[in-house]
Amino acid sequence: MIKLALFAGDGIGPEVAGEAVDVLKFLFDYSSIRYEIEEDLIGGASYDEYKKPVTERALKIAKEADAVIFGAVGGPRWESLPIELRPEKALLTLRYDLELYANLRPAKIYEELIDASPLKKDIVRGTDMMIVRELTGGIYFGQPRGVFNMEDGQRKGINTLVYTTKEIERIAKIAFEIARKRRKKVLSVDKANVLECTELWRQTVSEVSKSYPDVELSNMYVDNCSMQLIKQPKSFDVIVTTNMFGDILSDESSMVAGSIGMLPSASLNGKKGMYEPIHGSAPDIAGQNKANPLAAILSVAMMLRFSLDMDNFAQAIEKAVEKVIQNGFRTADIYSNASGTKLVGTKEIGEAVIEELKNNKNK
Ligand code: IPM
Ligand code: MG
Repeated sequence: MIKLALFAGDGIGPEVAGEAVDVLKFLFDYSSIRYEIEEDLIGGASYDEYKKPVTERALKIAKEADAVIFGAVGGPRWESLPIELRPEKALLTLRYDLELYANLRPAKIYEELIDASPLKKDIVRGTDMMIVRELTGGIYFGQPRGVFNMEDGQRKGINTLVYTTKEIERIAKIAFEIARKRRKKVLSVDKANVLECTELWRQTVSEVSKSYPDVELSNMYVDNCSMQLIKQPKSFDVIVTTNMFGDILSDESSMVAGSIGMLPSASLNGKKGMYEPIHGSAPDIAGQNKANPLAAILSVAMMLRFSLDMDNFAQAIEKAVEKVIQNGFRTADIYSNASGTKLVGTKEIGEAVIEELKNNKNK
């Protein structure tokens, strides 16, 4: 019996996760696979009900599940809460408590969506990269942290960038393993010219690379990398980087891929994983059937691949998504008025993906 946890969250989270779960249920039911899905509130929705962004019960469900499907959290209603109670804290707690240290964020451009990218076609065409972001360390979790009163009456804010060699080694290994199945290139991104911690990062990744002589390693400073991502996105294969640099670079990579509404992610520790679109809760369009559910649907495909050993299902979803795009279905974020395209809503995209899966099964 497959055990899944579902935290749909806030804003567009429930809409996009809802479509993703429908796609999954279709595949499982069709193939008579037994599963159970335990749901709970998370983020702002959990705060409204329980005064906490994540409850003990939710953490227990997540720990007992084979994989977690996550929608999105956050919204203006909760922005002024203390940091410990904000919706985002739920996400960080889940990542930390489940030790999901390896965050995979693929970014590739579909030929049909090339107009959706704000960059020139010739620059983005053929882009296909994987950002491997360290997810449970670095400045997001380092101590000391906080805002402190100083003797002279000022206040002082502190966050600390920390990495141990063990943390760097394990994420580097993941990057090299992934590169082996791709174009065999790893780019490690740091700020080793200024930050000692990332100098250690660079040295440690180089050490790990000795066990992967078939994979080419190069290094880049993060400022240069953010420029090269726009200048020559096709040149990237696997990027491995720290928690915060990965956060920033992955949003940037989404513009190369057309829309942030297209990008899935997996957060892994071995086979255990949490799967979420990289976009946020988009409160401005929540509840209007406007959000693009493809990032959430593609996240479920990653779950089938990485946590459930069902690569055939993962591929079926990825092919169906491609077909839906080829057939011209577009939510507003990827709609460009090109001939043969149709502006549709969240539900229609989800249904179109299921239709494609049905067509393939019947072939
Ligand atoms: C992401 C998000 C999160 C992060 C926020 C919501 C805490 O931006 O998953 O990229 O910073 O990691
Ligand atoms: Mg982010």
